[in-house]
Amino acid sequence: MRSALAAAFFCLISLAGVLAQQSPAQDGDLWWKHAVVYEVYPRSFQDSNNDGVGDIRGIERRLDYLKDLGIDAIWITPMYPSPQVDFGYDISDYRAIDPQYGSMEDFDALMKSAKAHDLRVIMDIVLNHTSDQHPWFKESRSSRTNPKRDWYIWRDGKNGGPPNNWQSWFGHSAWTLDPATGQYYYHYFYTQQPDLNWRNPEVRKAMFDIVKFWLDKGVAGFRLDAVSRLFEDPQMRDDPYLPGYNAYGDRNIQHKFTDDLPEVHDVLRDLRKLVDSYPGHPVLISEADEPTIADLSKMYGAHNDEVQLPMDFQIADVNQLSAPKFRKLFEEVENNPAHGWPEYFFSNHDQPRQWDRYGDGVHNDQIAKLMAALELLPRGTQQMYYGEEIGMRTTDPKRIEDVRDPIGRTGWPKEKGRDGERTPMQWTPEMPNAGFTAPNVKPWLPVPPSAKTINVQVESGQFESLLNFYKALLKMRHTEPALVSGDYVTLNPDDPDVFSFLRTPPNSGRSVLVALNMSSRNRTISFAASESLKTRGSKGQATHVTILKSSYPTSGTVKLDQIDIPAFGALVLGVE
Ligand code: NOJ
Repeated sequence: MRSALAAAFFCLISLAGVLAQQSPAQDGDLWWKHAVVYEVYPRSFQDSNNDGVGDIRGIERRLDYLKDLGIDAIWITPMYPSPQVDFGYDISDYRAIDPQYGSMEDFDALMKSAKAHDLRVIMDIVLNHTSDQHPWFKESRSSRTNPKRDWYIWRDGKNGGPPNNWQSWFGHSAWTLDPATGQYYYHYFYTQQPDLNWRNPEVRKAMFDIVKFWLDKGVAGFRLDAVSRLFEDPQMRDDPYLPGYNAYGDRNIQHKFTDDLPEVHDVLRDLRKLVDSYPGHPVLISEADEPTIADLSKMYGAHNDEVQLPMDFQIADVNQLSAPKFRKLFEEVENNPAHGWPEYFFSNHDQPRQWDRYGDGVHNDQIAKLMAALELLPRGTQQMYYGEEIGMRTTDPKRIEDVRDPIGRTGWPKEKGRDGERTPMQWTPEMPNAGFTAPNVKPWLPVPPSAKTINVQVESGQFESLLNFYKALLKMRHTEPALVSGDYVTLNPDDPDVFSFLRTPPNSGRSVLVALNMSSRNRTISFAASESLKTRGSKGQATHVTILKSSYPTSGTVKLDQIDIPAFGALVLGVE
């Protein structure tokens, strides 16, 4: 009996050892701190019923791929019933699934299957506005005395025009006159997306109930759409004008009285309390393009009691390969006054893909690898966008008649809209639809011709492909203790071309040194003078250097006092 017990005990100890080896995350750490979140744009990911639009069953079919890629959670952009003016961000029912994406049974099946794959599902929730086809708005617009009138922002016009100069993010006035009742309603985005009145407690309750509905279904958190825009100035003051004009021909404006009002934080605190009351540590990710680190820090909350992961738009919007700029911004978020956990991304469904945005037109493939290292290796939670791992290009429509995103029609040709970054996922070389949908079907957006060579199937078989580079980094990101929970230290702070940083594990063990040559010159760099590295090894210097990964062919021994790094090269070293 005693020996059986001892054997069982031994087994437990060994199992614990194996588990500890598999996951170097520290005990008690929160899952989202070690997660890479992958954004799925459901219309474009995988069509399972050959109607040209991606769907939930399609996502489920691709979970094996996502697991193998090495991500931890998927954020799915809105799949609720919607007239699809803004492709789901105009919601007409928050508690159901749009039939073009499937059914609630499909969603439940996806949740189950994701769990079996150890992948979490994050929902996108739009709190700021609904569709104008939502029953609440239909009631609200039906008469000035309807009980739901005050659920939205209705005002009388002024001097024969709108109540003030507030502008929609998507061009022109943010006010639309509703002739039936003779008043204007406010919409920060499209006319078909009326803003909810968050000063009305019934609105707050209704939206919080919706959040509970999805938490009860087991979602791992929410990406909070446009959340800094929940409140507007009660005095309705005009926004200040800025020099110049936007792509829609409007005067530029500072959204001073319609964005980032202090009241937003009361809502965020309450939301945080709500998600914290659920098991499994659901996470809040805020979409709010805060212009400074001070503003970004506020999203964490004065007592770290608001959003866990505010998306860092400053880093996402550098839009040029610049070591000094990235170094400064990564330093800033590392030292943010709230001590909040950083959240990085470079691509999403609202902006041109990183492959083109950072590419110079000649070295885009090398640059894409460099960007992958920049995205995945610093300290923080990372967000990827579907297709970035294979180097999908932004493919804008050529003619205004082909544009699907309404802003592309309002702003043509300066603003071509966001179709270019939303084209279907490229799975196979089989043209015309690259495995997204059947070859005889017309997909909702055309599959770019580049899909013939840039696709999952082809790149899986190429050792040096971008896809395999991503996979290697994602694996390293989850297995190297320095990358899982290590510190972040800037190295060579004055180098104009090469952005270098060191990740040091919490206890002993090897550090990871990342050097990214953001210039078109081959460079020789040295870390001999780095204090952070001098304190490594027994003789006061690093004794053992290993190449963990590079974006260019390299082998042999590396000496930290002289490293040749080619133009746009990315080098990842283990340093003991
Ligand atoms: C931000 C979303 O990412 C974007 O796609 C949408 O158009 C606006 N919010 C409005 O919901």
